[in-house]
Amino acid sequence: KQSVKLIVGNWKMNGLSAALAQAEAIRDAVSAAGQGPRVVLCPPATLIDRISAALADSGVAVGGQDCHEKPVGAFTGSVSAEMLADAGATVVILGHSERRAAFGETDADVAAKVEAAIAAGLEPIVCVGETLEQREAGEAIAVVSAQVEGSLPMGLSERDFAVAYEPVWAIGTGLTPTLEQIAEVHAAIRAAMIKRLGDSARTAPILYGGSVKPENARDILATPEVGGALVGGASLKAEDFMPIVKAAA
Ligand code: G3H
Repeated sequence: KQSVKLIVGNWKMNGLSAALAQAEAIRDAVSAAGQGPRVVLCPPATLIDRISAALADSGVAVGGQDCHEKPVGAFTGSVSAEMLADAGATVVILGHSERRAAFGETDADVAAKVEAAIAAGLEPIVCVGETLEQREAGEAIAVVSAQVEGSLPMGLSERDFAVAYEPVWAIGTGLTPTLEQIAEVHAAIRAAMIKRLGDSARTAPILYGGSVKPENARDILATPEVGGALVGGASLKAEDFMPIVKAAA
């Protein structure tokens, strides 16, 4: 029997107060749908407090999109893992390719943030993925495996966490890898997770992310070693997100 899938919506830097209504619509639709996947919404940090209050005791959890590696201090503009947890988050996305590219985050930086997240009791979702240039050079598997080994600290053993495979060229482009390519990379990620963390890494879900839509969700979610989806653009509206949630039921 397949284990329950994990569907995560990453709103990125989208969402003002009015977006609370979308979170509530997703909450209501998830509870009306009954048995289904685990669902997590990751709004901008400014909305975590309000959305987690609105979603309290519903089937939908709330997560952050990043955190600082330190618990407290003189880091103007940063938010710590403990602050996310205090605002109501139970999950945090770390090492998203947009942060690796635009903010220069290295595997070591991501690993330090993962340690901070687990110290604060958050479940980290650690993102990896190759660029188009790396895929065309035949380096996708090597790049992604190295990112997994470098970004997962040993402290993750026996903890709840997920890895998300997001090919950079598939994010926000409408392009997706073939199902065979997804299966191949997910198998390599599982092997790298086990190499790094041992048997405890056999069950953590490996999510696929990058242009997941209502039209392709069912096939992607049925691919071997795909334990769920990390959804960007299609998570902003309940009408786009719910068909993906239902495809994971
Ligand atoms: O974290 C989510 C991903 O970057 C995917 O974004 O679904 O808009 O392609 P997308």
